[in-house]
Amino acid sequence: MTNHKTILDDHRQLDILLRDLRVVCAWEASIVQQHSVRAKLANDVRALKDRLRHHFATEESGAYLEEISIRKPDARKLLLELHSEHLPFLHLLTAGEKDCMERDKEGAGSPDLQIKLLHVLDLLKMHEQRETALIREVFSA
Ligand SMILES: [Fe+2]
Ligand SMILES: [Fe+2]
Repeated sequence: MTNHKTILDDHRQLDILLRDLRVVCAWEASIVQQHSVRAKLANDVRALKDRLRHHFATEESGAYLEEISIRKPDARKLLLELHSEHLPFLHLLTAGEKDCMERDKEGAGSPDLQIKLLHVLDLLKMHEQRETALIREVFSA
């Protein structure tokens, strides 16, 4: 059975991953344009996506939702709304990963790619922060 501590622990680990990826995304554009950096970025985005896929599945598990429903029935609706954002996030990261490799092949400039990736990372951070706040409220954690 998944408990809220597992989710909060996941959020702490994800926060570190998001922060580290943010640092790479914010590097000087001429550096990000280099093939090796693009390949690293693509790998990091893929790793984040894989990690999130697992995390989202944990959050969407019946046991966890059941626990929330018992403790605070009103919170279930908001949690389901947050869960509806999961699949779009995975699609955005798939697009971001593809973008890294395609632009690398074309040798195009990177500022647009960096802005797009940073935006996705910001959205993800906000998503996790909203969940963390909700979990803390429901479980007094
Ligand atoms: Fe989530
Ligand atoms: Fe989460």
